[in-house]
Amino acid sequence: MSAPVHMVELREVVMQFEERKILDGVSLIVEPQERLVIMGQSGSGKSTILRLILGIRQPTSGNIFFKQFEITRLSRRKLQQVRRQIGMVHQYSALLSSLNVRDNIALPLEELTDKSPDEIEKIVDQKLEIVGMTEAKNLMPSELSGGMKKRVSLARALTLDPELILFDEPIAGLDPVIASVIDELIIRLTEESKITSIIVTHEMESAFRIATRMAMLYRGEIIEDAPPDQFRQSQNPVVAQFLSGSTEGPILEGSQDAIATK
Ligand SMILES: Nc1ncnc2c1ncn2[C@@H]1O[C@H](COP(=O)(O)OP(=O)(O)OP(=O)(O)O)[C@@H](O)[C@H]1O
Ligand SMILES: [Mg+2]
Repeated sequence: MSAPVHMVELREVVMQFEERKILDGVSLIVEPQERLVIMGQSGSGKSTILRLILGIRQPTSGNIFFKQFEITRLSRRKLQQVRRQIGMVHQYSALLSSLNVRDNIALPLEELTDKSPDEIEKIVDQKLEIVGMTEAKNLMPSELSGGMKKRVSLARALTLDPELILFDEPIAGLDPVIASVIDELIIRLTEESKITSIIVTHEMESAFRIATRMAMLYRGEIIEDAPPDQFRQSQNPVVAQFLSGSTEGPILEGSQDAIATK
């Protein structure tokens, strides 16, 4: 059998934590240069999907591919190598608080490559310029606003020139204007550098702005997977409720949230 040529593929992935099945046969394909937005309720397993793709977690069953590599079958050493081709932007930026901006961005280069100090300096400057943060080079994370932290973590995700970037809630906690700026930045840099991306978000407006395709995760399954225009027209009642933000519909019925908000 020939190797899959997709950027990412999940095949019938099941993820179970004790008795709770979080993912119940998730299949998903991401093609090069797509921006796939994954939506779903809090606790539906969105971040888990990103962790599985990074190989930080092993699925209970199923297969996960990144290009020709089956993530679930790689040795630790090989996995570490392959992971360098994947950038990650965490929900809370996850910058190291004891290092300034320059050092946060340089760290992967210093630890994982044999580039000279001059080369590293050049790459750091270049990535900071892409995200418009040249002036913040010597600041500490505690001196940055939420939007600035986000830009720096974007720059850091870019340092090793990844083919794929995973974004976990990239605009959570940002004001609407800064959120649009970050969205635009994500679009621009993924297009310019031909990077594929998977973006997890709750924010509807942002999702429609960024996505070339949208997938909805609900009760462990992908219940809708379509380009934004089609997604908006979805006949699935769960998707319709999610899009309208209504309390009427299948989402809260019988769930813990419904009981908690009573
Ligand atoms: N290591 C773990 N052990 C046990 N349960 C876990 C573990 N990691 C995640 N879970 C559970 O799996 C479910 C999905 O978690 P996940 O973080 O993927 O949700 P999410 O969709 O990203 O939610 P949010 O939108 O709130 O970030 C949650 O109910 C969580 O409690
Ligand atoms: Mg999450």
